[in-house]
Amino acid sequence: MSQNILVTGGTGYIGSHMVVRLIESGYTPIIFDNFSNSKPAVLDRIEQITGVRPLLVKGDIRNEQELENLFRNHQIDAVINFAGKKAVGESETDPLLYFSYNVEGTIVLLRVMKKFNVKKFVFSSSATVYGDPGYDEFNEETPLAPINNYGLSKWMIEEVLRKLYKAEPDWSIAILRYFNPVGAHESGLIGEDPNGIPNNLMPFISQVAVGKRAHLNVFGNDYPTRDGTGCRDYIHVMDLVEGHLNALDVLSKGPQLLTVNLGTGGSTSVLELIKAFEKASGKKVPYQICPRRAGDKAAYWTNPSLAKTLLGWTAKRDIETMCKDTWNWQSKNPQGYPD
Ligand code: NAD
Ligand code: UFG
Repeated sequence: MSQNILVTGGTGYIGSHMVVRLIESGYTPIIFDNFSNSKPAVLDRIEQITGVRPLLVKGDIRNEQELENLFRNHQIDAVINFAGKKAVGESETDPLLYFSYNVEGTIVLLRVMKKFNVKKFVFSSSATVYGDPGYDEFNEETPLAPINNYGLSKWMIEEVLRKLYKAEPDWSIAILRYFNPVGAHESGLIGEDPNGIPNNLMPFISQVAVGKRAHLNVFGNDYPTRDGTGCRDYIHVMDLVEGHLNALDVLSKGPQLLTVNLGTGGSTSVLELIKAFEKASGKKVPYQICPRRAGDKAAYWTNPSLAKTLLGWTAKRDIETMCKDTWNWQSKNPQGYPD
């Protein structure tokens, strides 16, 4: 029988791609989202891609009553928790908001899961938990030292999960630390639709290419990297969500706590990404060199070997595909999702 997977934040960027792949893989996703950073139109698009309209329950993971109603009304086999806030700058100006949405929200969710005896949990963590260890190739043993409140909120949830598993080893938990998710579903029907001015490089580049913004600011060209600009391990969102499917398979083998980095193992500089995007889109991406952005590390990427060993997963899609799929989404939806 098809397993019911609760996808919190399932109308968001990564969550919507996850929901598509879950449906295509024979699961029944149930979305729980408060639409604080997404739009209901995503559901039409998921239906267009898969032929299935996923069940949506509107609510907030910090609301215990809403979650209890959800678990009472639906039999849930596992939970993937994407719900949360992710803007580094905002986490510095409003830390309570981040600790509430991310940490408190996840604790409430875990408490309700426990109450209903659902103990399979996949958590969206981030490479930001590592901070700057003084080298560039991170693995899962790299010390955890987040340098902003967003990263700290992810580290705090990870700690909660480690303590929970220690006390109650009948849980099956996967902590997945994402590097830099980019790209979109190949249909161009779903993709990243940031609110306001994008914080991150790829959505900014694609908005410049589509004419929504005049130029890109390149934050620093004096880093000790091959061309002086920052280097990151960009990972296609479809590869990323496929890693979650592998994690679900592994978790179904029995209680365990897995902690795995999800990235490609390669790195791309800002200037390299601009070039690749120009090629994929046929559009010029004007840019100007600006001072470094506070808190940025010059370069980092993951050593992807543990993901291969533990999950049997490696990223398949290259930078050209990431740019092509981002452009397909952006050019078909220059204003993002309709209201
Ligand atoms: P997103 O903002 O597009 O999606 C998050 C979704 O959760 C949105 O639909 C939002 O409406 C919903 N949501 C937020 N708070 C909620 C709450 N309290 N209750 C119910 N729903 C709520 O973000 P995303 O890029 O899809 O990221 C998903 C997860 O992955 C986040 O936890 C994020 O921190 C993590 N992550 C993202 C990146 C990235 O670069 N995109 C990198 C590392 C980790
Ligand atoms: N950059 C620019 N101009 C921009 C935006 C970014 O030059 O307008 C540069 C940055 O300086 C950096 C690179 O592009 O060198 C990538 O920056 P992003 O903001 O796209 O990504 P980060 O690696 O800084 O951080 C992102 C998310 C974090 C997440 C982290 C790891 O913002 O939340 O990836 O997953 F935790």
